[in-house]
Amino acid sequence: MIYQKLLDFPQDFLWGASTSAYQVEGGWDADGKSPSIIDMYEHPAGYADFTVASDHYHRFEEDIALFAQMGLKAYRFSIAWTRILPNGTGEVNRAGVEHYRAVIRACRKYNIEPIVTMYHFDLPWCLEQQGGWLNRATIDAFEAYCRVLLEEYGDAVKYWLTINEQNTMILHPGAIGLPKGGVLPSRRELYQMNHHMMLAQARVMKLCHAMCSQAKIGPALNLTAMYPETCRPEDAIAAHNWEVLRCWNFADVPVFGWYHPLAVRYLEDRGLMPDVQPGDRETLSGAHPDFIAMNYYSTATIAASRGDASDVSARAGDQQIMLGEEGVYRAAENPYVGKTKYGWVIDPTGFRYTLRKVCERYHLPILITENGIGAPDVLEDDGSIHDPYRIEFYEQHLHAMREAITDGVEMMGYCPWSALDVVSTHQGYAKRYGFIYVDRDEQDCRSMRRLPKDSFYWYQKTIAENGKNL
Ligand code: BG6
Repeated sequence: MIYQKLLDFPQDFLWGASTSAYQVEGGWDADGKSPSIIDMYEHPAGYADFTVASDHYHRFEEDIALFAQMGLKAYRFSIAWTRILPNGTGEVNRAGVEHYRAVIRACRKYNIEPIVTMYHFDLPWCLEQQGGWLNRATIDAFEAYCRVLLEEYGDAVKYWLTINEQNTMILHPGAIGLPKGGVLPSRRELYQMNHHMMLAQARVMKLCHAMCSQAKIGPALNLTAMYPETCRPEDAIAAHNWEVLRCWNFADVPVFGWYHPLAVRYLEDRGLMPDVQPGDRETLSGAHPDFIAMNYYSTATIAASRGDASDVSARAGDQQIMLGEEGVYRAAENPYVGKTKYGWVIDPTGFRYTLRKVCERYHLPILITENGIGAPDVLEDDGSIHDPYRIEFYEQHLHAMREAITDGVEMMGYCPWSALDVVSTHQGYAKRYGFIYVDRDEQDCRSMRRLPKDSFYWYQKTIAENGKNL
């Protein structure tokens, strides 16, 4: 659709940026924190681990002052469950609670809206040892943990995100890592874990609405529209298969209270349907989100299954690089889009397309909680960092978002990944995402100095103009 005039970004649009606790904080055992599964994971040789990360735990005041200088109106960060409840449940660690109270206070000092993710991949290790998400007791533990968050911060935090990228944890568990010597859970187990996370999320959405009448809460999923490789009808079916299984099956449950009908048939056919106990359906349908939060990095292009093992590609995949699944879909190339140095598709128009689909399916406001480009940025001798590729990426994606707004999609805000450099989930520190450079490399923590990149100044100007030149 081409319009005579693009609509403006809303006046109260939440221009923000994101991080997650384990990727940015460091202080992995500080002030009573216990290890999370991430702390116990094997790190690929040569890559930074998460023990120091960007030392945000000790430098958040300085960092948030820089965010304010950039003009951020929102900061999306996650709380580490292991700082609040080192035993996973039970006794509250006051030092951990006070740490995040100080982070929230620092945001408020600069009129930055805190947007809090309750859980971003870092399950307490002690709970993992008791079966983790396979154990239904983890549902109670998550609810108890979130109750503490709502009690402690409910008066200061308006926007809550339940679980970050549940679909990544279930579909690409290898991208998040594996405990030393561990094996990935079976697919049957993964879908059972998924069911328990869905129940936990539903309980917490309900709890949040009961405890904090002003609060808004939603899931944060990794959503990606799929294109068929050609107009061959079989390619269109395959693209739809994977879009349902990768995206809509995860977003339908919080909104509609049950799994996507096509996904149910897929799961039943393959013996993957989770055990559902009496009362589970009522729990799922008894809660609702106020918005959909979504992380968008790229689209994928899909071809019809050949019905044999050749459907699965031999290359390395991750949360954005599709591999194919026997009898379901094959990954294909798209000649019309670009790629990052790490092989992730760059597709701003696909962003608009994905937003339109999410709007059409759920009729809820949308908050972007991640979007960005990982790149090996270079620190020049004079302390500058020139990242024109990042500026171009954001310019194009924000323009596409403005087109989506003009299409009629209700957008709440944009929190790209990431506010400052973080450790990537599985590709170390050289794969940088931030507006702010942190002076360290994979192994050497160097000065840890914070240096604004060119994109910092570009975003500052864009926010000041409320995106009117996009
Ligand atoms: C998302 C995660 O999948 O992508 C983030 O929510 C992650 O935690 C981001 O950092 C970028 O991915 P990666 O693998 O490059 O760190």
